[in-house]
Amino acid sequence: MTTSEIHNLPPEMWPSRYIEKVSLATGEVLEDDFEPRRLLVHSHRDYHLVDIHARFMMSRVIKATGDESLARKKMKEMRRLGHRTSRILARMIGKQDPKKLAQKLFGLKDREYYFRYKRHEFSHQEIEERLSELKTAARRELEGRRKNGRLALRVLLTGGTGFVGKEVLWQAAHDPDIAELVTLIRPKEIKDRKTGEVLETLSPAERGRRLLEELWLADSGAAAKFRFIAGDVERPNLGISAEELDSLRSTLTHVIHCAASVAFDDPYEKSFRANVHGSLNALHFSLGLQSHPGSPFVAHVGIETSYIHGRQTKDQALEDEIAFPRNFYNNYYELTKAIASIEAERFMLEKGLRLAQLCPAIVIGESRAGNNRGDTKVVNAPVNVFGRAKQALATTSGRWRDRSKAAIIARLACIFPGDPSAQINLIPVDRVVEGILAALKKPDVVGERVHLASDTRVTSDQIRTIVGEELDVKIKLAEPTLHRTVTLPLLTKVLTRLGQGRTAKALEKLGGIFSGYSEWGQPIHEVGKDVEILGLSPERPSAEHSFRMLCRHNKWVQNFGQIKDAVEISRREKVWWAFVLGLEQRFAKPAGALSSEAFRTALEASLDTEAFVLKNVREVES
Ligand SMILES: NC(=O)c1ccc[n+]([C@@H]2O[C@H](COP(=O)([O-])OP(=O)(O)OC[C@H]3O[C@@H](n4cnc5c(N)ncnc54)[C@H](OP(=O)(O)O)[C@@H]3O)[C@@H](O)[C@H]2O)c1
Repeated sequence: MTTSEIHNLPPEMWPSRYIEKVSLATGEVLEDDFEPRRLLVHSHRDYHLVDIHARFMMSRVIKATGDESLARKKMKEMRRLGHRTSRILARMIGKQDPKKLAQKLFGLKDREYYFRYKRHEFSHQEIEERLSELKTAARRELEGRRKNGRLALRVLLTGGTGFVGKEVLWQAAHDPDIAELVTLIRPKEIKDRKTGEVLETLSPAERGRRLLEELWLADSGAAAKFRFIAGDVERPNLGISAEELDSLRSTLTHVIHCAASVAFDDPYEKSFRANVHGSLNALHFSLGLQSHPGSPFVAHVGIETSYIHGRQTKDQALEDEIAFPRNFYNNYYELTKAIASIEAERFMLEKGLRLAQLCPAIVIGESRAGNNRGDTKVVNAPVNVFGRAKQALATTSGRWRDRSKAAIIARLACIFPGDPSAQINLIPVDRVVEGILAALKKPDVVGERVHLASDTRVTSDQIRTIVGEELDVKIKLAEPTLHRTVTLPLLTKVLTRLGQGRTAKALEKLGGIFSGYSEWGQPIHEVGKDVEILGLSPERPSAEHSFRMLCRHNKWVQNFGQIKDAVEISRREKVWWAFVLGLEQRFAKPAGALSSEAFRTALEASLDTEAFVLKNVREVES
């Protein structure tokens, strides 16, 4: 997209509506429009051999010393040296502009501007007063609900068919304070995987019915709490019918806006429609509820992401603040979620909407068993690729040539971009949803942005070790810059030559998407309000145990994403849950804390992994 192409976007999608470009020299706001891609990391990287080499060297420095600040210092020194050398050379050869020479020889592009968010003009005191007003009103509304010690909350949920949304349904079913959960669902087209032909369209009601069955709730007493209505977050009033709207206005206490497009490779426009327009529609909807006479509305809960802070490498990413990241965003998903968060803040300050923003880190399967209800996104994607590569390596049938080819492909698939020290913030979905449901009952969360993240991050190196132990896969960590610029294009060529165009594309996509999250200099997300305000346990789930359970679950329950039938996944997860509970009882510790050998031995003794049934239910449960 070029600057002129930006004018093909509707003006409300122009990044300059939210972000301004500021001259570093004068502090003046530069008026020119800029393309969305300028706001991404990739626009500012890999443009020169020396730049690539410098990043590679820094990665080595961190590997040797474990000190990221030293690498940053060295980077600065190298830049200074490059500039000094360019000045001397320019003088020696005559007229050359030293800046141009520095760019040509050393790839030293000195930016003359920076980006910042256009912010509201409220003073600190005005904000404090506004927040205090909103919290007080939320407290009053909430207390008005309390009857016989229960809150009788009536909640509208968007995104209920998604990974996080399903856990909301599950926990809501068991939460006595939730009297009703109305889930907004759009129709779903089932297409033939090969031809793309639409085979069937599932209505929202049918999707809701299936959802309850897959969540083991259809026959439970809690089923009566749930209602499924048709809608689409990209439409005004969330696409809800006028009749339904009337009834919701007089009953809803909360809106949980969880729907989004969580795709790291979506184009800007698509991400914007789902994440910014979707959020704006939800905010307008909640404002409509709040201002409706006699409405019992308490608050809006927006689900954002802690990665709205993008590549904030130097300082901790704070819960209270959002600043345009010095090192840009990894993708349009992060950027549009950040814009949605700015819009939420505007609704709160300008229009007085009572709202809370919850920002999960990278969400993975549930903390004890790793169950994820068929999710294959985000971290699951590379883990499943590694697992399938291992299966291919273990293939002993077929001709020697085919087996050798499979072995080469599998080995190539296990080269992954990652600095060993890169820290990744994983948080299990049950902890995230505990936070979401707690937010419905805590008026003090109104006006706050809360990180639902871990305080024990895993490094790429730990991930490599765990994947090795759990899946018996040897991952080779490749330096991300070198991988992106040299190895990946080469790998793609080799695989395409071997007739593996699809695998090549998948790896290219995976490498491109994830290298940003596995480089050194990952943001460290501040945590604290999850405990202080939401009252969650101060003992946050162990990221290492959860990741171990993710690997085990994806291997045995999902067969690395190859079991796609939601009903079968649901059946297996029930068996898996019983198996894991049995282990916890037997060993008196979390299953994630068991060594891979102990876990495998117990698994062989208790689970028939072919039929996927417990060998002896009593033995496991005793
Ligand atoms: N997963 C993570 O690692 C992670 C991390 C941090 C934050 N979050 C945030 O958590 C929330 C949920 O994420 P997730 O992982 O559960 O995502 P997901 O599994 O991809 O689910 C997305 C949900 O949004 C719904 N949706 C999307 N567009 C819609 C539309 N136009 N109208 C109605 N519904 C629509 C989807 O419905 P369909 O079934 O009809 O497609 C689905 O229910 C998102 O806001 C995300 O940004 C997720």
